[in-house]
Amino acid sequence: TQRVFSGMQPTSDSLQLGNYLGALKQWVALQDTHDAIYSVVDLHALTVAPDREVLTRRTRATAAQYLAAGVDPSRATLFVQSHVPQHAELTWVLSTFTGMGEAGRMTQFKDKSAKVGESGTNVGLFTYPVLMAADILLYDTNVVPVGEDQRQHLELSRDLAQRLNQRLGEGTAVVPEPHIVKEVAKIYDLQEPTAKMSKSSSSPNGLIEILDDPKAIAKRIKSAVTDADTVIAFDPKNKAGISNLLTIYSALTGRPVADIVADYEGKMYGHLKADLAEVVVGALTPVREAAMEWIESPDKLDVVLADGAAKATAIAQATLERIYDRLGLLRPL
Ligand code: TYM
Repeated sequence: TQRVFSGMQPTSDSLQLGNYLGALKQWVALQDTHDAIYSVVDLHALTVAPDREVLTRRTRATAAQYLAAGVDPSRATLFVQSHVPQHAELTWVLSTFTGMGEAGRMTQFKDKSAKVGESGTNVGLFTYPVLMAADILLYDTNVVPVGEDQRQHLELSRDLAQRLNQRLGEGTAVVPEPHIVKEVAKIYDLQEPTAKMSKSSSSPNGLIEILDDPKAIAKRIKSAVTDADTVIAFDPKNKAGISNLLTIYSALTGRPVADIVADYEGKMYGHLKADLAEVVVGALTPVREAAMEWIESPDKLDVVLADGAAKATAIAQATLERIYDRLGLLRPL
């Protein structure tokens, strides 16, 4: 069977709808057909210097939301990145295979460091995609379900896998394929529908958070930015706001966008928004409730994570040994 790996950063208490539709829902679907491994990538989150208690809380909350959305620990491996030290170890090796220019071309690094300036950025932000490549290559991953914003990072992971195979011999690394579902690969900010929805978005009103209460969710949808026109149509170029709402509607109901557009012929934006608010609240309420249960039982959650870490470590250690051996690093007796 093919191996799937993916992860999310615990950089906020709640995941947002883009994480859910672009990634988490795909993870849940893939665990039926693949050997799936999902991680809370807490080492990545260190690049934004979180407070101690906040990082701990968000790490558990993120795992809780994976479980609540349907990641099933009896079928998938769920673990916290820092519980498996091989991630940091392989990162070092891969950093020696990564060109300075190659890392410097990563658009997410360029955007983030431009925002904070050279003095505010850190080396971890620069090597972030190398740690991500280590995450993926450690598990001989075939498929990586992510949103569009991770495409370039995945391309680097592929290049590194190919480079390992060239320098150390075929079979050193598996070259991973991205799994990016076009329709939901980029969910947009409700207030700024040309920018992706993001945990670090400029206005919280642009976000739909999984753990938000239903009233707040409905309010944000009803105040979503649209356009001065009145016709409900799917036209991302000219009607970015309405098209984003239609995308979300379609993804959560499983109905084609064209059918939804047909239903709303002659109706007003307000109708669509009111119905969508119900759809979103209906879809997210069970997820929020299940997540809260896990968050309130940290001991139970920690057992799931310990079990996942043990399984992940066994695989990661075997891969790391294979690579160390091929590099010629002397192995201890
Ligand atoms: P992160 O934590 O920013 O986001 C988690 C996942 O959510 C997707 N996503 C979106 N999809 C659609 N529309 C959006 N608006 C949207 N916003 C976020 C992301 O593409 C991602 O799939 N570097 C990664 C985490 C990571 C990782 C990995 C992923 C670390 N190691 C190994 C895969 C494999 C990140 O920062 O994702």
